[in-house]
Amino acid sequence: MILVTGGTGYIGAQVVLQLLGHGQTVVILDNLCNSSRTSLERIARLGGRRARFVLGDVRNRAQLDALFADFPITAVIHCAGLKAVGESVREPLRYYDSNVGGSITLCQAMAAAGVFTLIFSSSATVYGDSPRMPIDERCATGLPTNPYGFSKLMAENVMTSLAASDARWSVGLLRYFNPIGAHDSGELGEAPAQIPNNLLPYLLQVASGQRDVLHVYGNDYATVDGTGVRDYVHVMDLAEGHWLALQALMGGSGVQVWNLGTGQGYSVLQVVDAFTRTCGVSVPLVFEPRRAGDVAQCWADPDKARRELGWQARRTLDDMLRDAWRWECRLAAQHRPILYTPLLQGFWRDGLLRCVAHTAAIGFTTPRSAATARWQGCRSPSSTPGTAPGRTAATPSPWPRWSPCRSPHRRTAPRPPVV
Ligand code: NAD
Ligand code: UFG
Repeated sequence: MILVTGGTGYIGAQVVLQLLGHGQTVVILDNLCNSSRTSLERIARLGGRRARFVLGDVRNRAQLDALFADFPITAVIHCAGLKAVGESVREPLRYYDSNVGGSITLCQAMAAAGVFTLIFSSSATVYGDSPRMPIDERCATGLPTNPYGFSKLMAENVMTSLAASDARWSVGLLRYFNPIGAHDSGELGEAPAQIPNNLLPYLLQVASGQRDVLHVYGNDYATVDGTGVRDYVHVMDLAEGHWLALQALMGGSGVQVWNLGTGQGYSVLQVVDAFTRTCGVSVPLVFEPRRAGDVAQCWADPDKARRELGWQARRTLDDMLRDAWRWECRLAAQHRPILYTPLLQGFWRDGLLRCVAHTAAIGFTTPRSAATARWQGCRSPSSTPGTAPGRTAATPSPWPRWSPCRSPHRRTAPRPPVV
């Protein structure tokens, strides 16, 4: 049985599905701080089987000991952690506690239980601002630009020291580049609880009308069009990498590092263009100054994973965008007509007080049907790829551009936190 920490989260859920698909039994440990039990239902539907679930925290040693005593766990895939870069700058202790402290406690509990095979969700962020492109695993780890990045590097160092101290450990550090996309059924993907920090979830919310405009951070980098370049990798490809890494680690010893990326970089504008072309939805954007801590470019040399694991990303950028849009439309069609009544939209986006002020300003004569229609227009689970409804590049929005944030109390479009 495989323990997946953070298994109800965006990446963990895809990993669980992958393991179930290979006949493994899985137990998930998650404290649900950034996910919900809904993932379990979605996994069961797609996987045809259920994963066991334990509500708990990787920092809680007693809970971990009970978990290892209760289940015949042979390996751990450690996805649990906090991941919002801006939040890590504001609350560094929370990040070190969860990402470093949680990893240490997990390793202690594993050792006590005699389980020594571990895969860790690491990140390309550990390379810092690499002078070499593409980045291979021999590139030095750089100086991360935020506490989140430091916490990932510190957790890697803990695991590396541990493996050096005891040959029973077999550890895989998977350095993800930029995971995006969703399950190709459109049934499982990322559901950000807060204002998204990352490009794709923000872009999707602009495309579906939840946000007004995409803020593009920097158009003066030395890149193809001045905007930041990243290596976007489909989350299903990423999940397959975990399965292959697990097999490579079983019975082995020491630490292995693998980059999981495609080897191909795309600029922000190239992603936006590809989205409009593939999904038929235009995305209004404005250029902003560079975001603090961003690097100009970052893409992988994934050859080591290809040689040693037989892993290669198979899905294209268009696949990633199409699957992500299908998921976004599914989410919107299922939830938003209820959640995004004008009153509640104000609540979700701006907090109760702002909502009350706003409601007072506009009164209770709310254009509910218009808001609902806008979401229904984004229903496409069964639509053909490339013809997803919504605002098309050629056709302006059929839905009134009503938004409760355009109240006298808030004239500017919502902005993600600037790091
Ligand atoms: P996510 O937030 O969707 O999933 C993380 C899960 O961990 C959530 O379900 C959350 O509830 C759970 N969790 C958090 N702290 C916990 C704790 N102390 N105990 C138990 N559960 C806890 O994030 P994700 O995108 O799926 O990322 C998974 C991992 O991959 C994270 O470690 C992240 O740092 C790493 N990673 C993500 C990206 C990315 O762009 N998504 C890139 C590189 C690395
Ligand atoms: N960007 C925008 N507008 C946005 C969000 C992002 O222009 O609203 C730009 C950024 O400036 C950058 C590119 O889009 O040029 C990608 O930014 P993301 O925030 O999507 O991704 P990052 O490369 O900054 O970081 C992500 C994860 C990290 C992880 C890293 C490498 O957030 O956790 O990939 O894996 F460490």
